[in-house]
Amino acid sequence: MAGFHTLTRVAREVRRDVHAARERDPAARTASTGEILATWPGIHAVLAYRVAHALKEAGVPLIPRTLSMVTRVITNIEIHPAARIGQGLFIDHGAGVVIGETADIGEDVTLYQGVTLGGTGFATGKRHPTVQDNVTIGSGAKLLGPITIGHGAKIGANSVVITDVPPNSTVVGVPGHPVRVDGRRMEGPDADWIHLPDPIAEAIQALSSRIGALERMVAELSDSEPAPVAEVRPLRQLRGTNPAGG
Ligand SMILES: CC(C)(COP(=O)(O)OP(=O)(O)OC[C@H]1O[C@@H](n2cnc3c(N)ncnc32)[C@H](O)[C@@H]1OP(=O)(O)O)[C@@H](O)C(=O)NCCC(=O)NCCS
Repeated sequence: MAGFHTLTRVAREVRRDVHAARERDPAARTASTGEILATWPGIHAVLAYRVAHALKEAGVPLIPRTLSMVTRVITNIEIHPAARIGQGLFIDHGAGVVIGETADIGEDVTLYQGVTLGGTGFATGKRHPTVQDNVTIGSGAKLLGPITIGHGAKIGANSVVITDVPPNSTVVGVPGHPVRVDGRRMEGPDADWIHLPDPIAEAIQALSSRIGALERMVAELSDSEPAPVAEVRPLRQLRGTNPAGG
């Protein structure tokens, strides 16, 4: 009887996972359930995890880890069978995703390729992140240690997050830091991590203006036309629309 209950629970979770794919992957909108089940690697990985996790909870030895290892070979997504994952997880594209043993994932979480929910060293016990509901984690982001990612947070692509993330915030960069909380830009003297000064451009600018001053002096002394002053433009766009999407 317990086996039947486990089976119906896993079937319910898989239905929710397929629904999550259709909801959050524009490419899946027109795909049939069969097509999604057959060709979405993120779905294969989560499905295999659901079975491996159920077997692990039932105390079955070896098979959960073996299932996880075989799934990793096929999908390039590694989910430890002991990790705890809520319903509606969607892993888009999948390749390179690692979810560690003590990771805890809430409901309706989206992960893109290359996300790591990992530990920071050889610590034992709870050593992987807790990700609350409705969090989106961009491609290549690394979340390390027993940190908590608050519900509704967005983690930017390629961020490295090693501290707790407030709910409903956007965190980007290395190390990851909030740039928006509840949709509002962070304020305060140390809050603007994105528009950091560019010391190389500033040094070139200073040198260029000193050369310009010297050239003007030489031109005056030698009674010749001064050379046009070199213009130094900022090396990168400092403000404006975000090309990374959202
Ligand atoms: C972080 C992200 C979710 C956007 O969240 P958002 O709340 O809409 O935030 P915004 O787009 O307003 O960006 C906030 C600021 O962070 C900056 N930013 C956004 N993403 C960033 C990133 N990955 N790294 C560094 N800075 C980033 C923006 O330039 C913006 O700066 P501003 O203050 O000068 O305007 C999005 O940029 C991102 O990284 N998405 C992941 C997408 C992905 O992995 N796609 C893979 C598809 S295959």
